[in-house]
Amino acid sequence: MQKLSLSAALAALLPVVYSQGCSGTFTPITAEDFVAGLHPGWNLGNTLDAIPDEGSWNNAPVEEGTFDIIKESGFNSVRLPVTWTHHFTGGSPDWTVDPEWLQRVSDVLDMITSRDLYAIVNVHHDSWEWADVTASGANLTLIEEKFYRLWYQIGTKLACKSNLVAFESINEPPANTAEDGAEINKLNSIFLQAIADAGGFNSQRVVNLVGGGQDSIKTSQWFEAPANITNPWAIQFHYYSPYDFIFSAWGKTIWGSDSDKDTLTTDFELIRNNFTDVPLILGEYDASSVNTEPAARWKYFDHIQHVAAQFNIATVMWDNGADQLDRTTGEWRDPVTPEIVVGTTEETLNSLPDSTEDASATEQSSSAYLFHRAGTQVAAQTLPYLFNGNTLVSITDSAGTVLTSGSDYSVSGENIIFSATYLATKYNSSTATGVVDTLTVKFDGGASSPIIEIVQWNKPVLGSTSASASAVSGADLSIPITWNGLETVAAVKALTTSGVYLFDDWTQWLGPLQQARATYSNHYNWGEDNVILTSTAIDAVVAAGQTTVFTFEFYPRVAGGVNTANFTLTV
Ligand SMILES: *[C@@H]1O[C@H](CO)[C@@H](O)[C@H](O)[C@H]1NC(C)=O
Ligand SMILES: *[C@@H]1O[C@H](CO)[C@@H](O)[C@H](O)[C@H]1NC(C)=O
Ligand SMILES: *[C@@H]1O[C@H](CO)[C@@H](O)[C@H](O)[C@H]1NC(C)=O
Ligand SMILES: *[C@@H]1O[C@H](CO)[C@@H](O)[C@H](O)[C@H]1NC(C)=O
Ligand SMILES: *[C@@H]1O[C@H](CO)[C@@H](O)[C@H](O)[C@H]1NC(C)=O
Repeated sequence: MQKLSLSAALAALLPVVYSQGCSGTFTPITAEDFVAGLHPGWNLGNTLDAIPDEGSWNNAPVEEGTFDIIKESGFNSVRLPVTWTHHFTGGSPDWTVDPEWLQRVSDVLDMITSRDLYAIVNVHHDSWEWADVTASGANLTLIEEKFYRLWYQIGTKLACKSNLVAFESINEPPANTAEDGAEINKLNSIFLQAIADAGGFNSQRVVNLVGGGQDSIKTSQWFEAPANITNPWAIQFHYYSPYDFIFSAWGKTIWGSDSDKDTLTTDFELIRNNFTDVPLILGEYDASSVNTEPAARWKYFDHIQHVAAQFNIATVMWDNGADQLDRTTGEWRDPVTPEIVVGTTEETLNSLPDSTEDASATEQSSSAYLFHRAGTQVAAQTLPYLFNGNTLVSITDSAGTVLTSGSDYSVSGENIIFSATYLATKYNSSTATGVVDTLTVKFDGGASSPIIEIVQWNKPVLGSTSASASAVSGADLSIPITWNGLETVAAVKALTTSGVYLFDDWTQWLGPLQQARATYSNHYNWGEDNVILTSTAIDAVVAAGQTTVFTFEFYPRVAGGVNTANFTLTV
């Protein structure tokens, strides 16, 4: 049972609050109800939080239609991250915020709440731009003064918003010590004071408070609620773990073992046990469709949703605009992810493709794909599947044709077997490489209909195979590629010609698919027609003074170097 907070008791007594300065009314809502109502939520990432301005990063300014898609997809809330740093028009002591920017934030909130979606608005990258209490020489007096003034102005502008709008004090504030943690607690108090002073309905508004770093461990260690808090309040925390899977570090493309699942469960259990009577919001988490393997990703989302439900934690998925929803086309880049996120309760049993879970494996299989290598015979293929108690109802191709059970495919135990005659209608030994078709698999239970991509592949070919490290240093190096299959890099191995690991020597203790592997985005990346070695990777070669072979690895991750391509940086 949750303890009844003062505000909840008040809410029961006063169903409607009339407040000076606001023309409408405000129906009080408990933090428990707000948090239950907002689940599942979605983040409008890299948009109003972009620096210096909305539109500065990878997304155009948001348009109303985006929130229609979010609503239609089954989400109940939008977290609206806002960075204010570059919208101050005056300095100390007033720290005036550009009224046009305040108006824009207000307008976007209205777009969200007019669709009956809950909204959480915050102070976002300001946390490291000017409010970083860990920065050397940080002037805490100045940070506190500016933070109060900022929230006073936000609180004034948004004072009359409905009970669908919550305020979140600050996003991921850096904190390394208990003292830093205490300073973040103080910022929470200043935030409450500022919005209370701003008036309107703010004294009844739900607030999200945060602990150091907004991570589950530091929040558990250092968070203390302001003593005299009267607003209905929740704690918001973020979770991007395991780091190596989420950020594609050290070749970790596998997730889903019992130990992987237990770690995640324990992490959520610990924060829940630290705050038994506080509503909890997982305000950011993600596994991107860009850089994670789909079968592993779906297992991850499935487990996160189950564990969040088990511990009564509302979830708000991060989306930077490149990961999940394509706001230009209105299509989800991976349609299975939102289905799992939106539809999974504690009781839901999702059917999912099986995939390698053993971190010491030498190859990675995935039933999210029917892979066929060019130049080889067409044969029947068996995809192991986690039926999870459900029955397969249908398989449909992208043209809407329903496959015939018995001849096109059959089900045997926990396997879907595609016949050679069926597969021969999709590919043969000389079919052009790439994605040939996409099948949708429907079950009689579960939240999602997983897809299977049929992929003809062959060894990828790089447009060049070597360069002088010193000649190309100072910038990222783009290398043209003929993909010959999925247009994604799975991992990159970096070994000097004397066999020394260029990065992270300790990865020798990991499995064969992870040893000597570099990290996505830090060291390598890719575009439409190219793979990229970053200037950081090139600098590492120059610093090592050792000619280094970068082995780009692709899906399927199979042994024998048949789906890899080498690029050598010489010194
Ligand atoms: C710190 O900030 C306060 C408030 O703006 C200011 O009065 C003070 O001079 C600053 N201290 C230093 C050392 O800059
Ligand atoms: C909360 O308590 C602090 C410290 O006693 C005080 O400065 C502040 O004004 C109080 N805030 C509110 C909103 O009552
Ligand atoms: C609170 O969280 C910390 C950090 O995760 C953990 O060490 C501790 O065991 C937790 N406390 C409880 C009661 O679960
Ligand atoms: C192989 O498949 C392609 C289409 O992918 C088709 O155009 C071609 O005729 C097929 N070749 C044979 C020998 O069946
Ligand atoms: C790629 O480089 C590795 C050494 O890093 C080597 O073992 C492998 O044979 C090379 N592959 C090709 C196709 O040259």
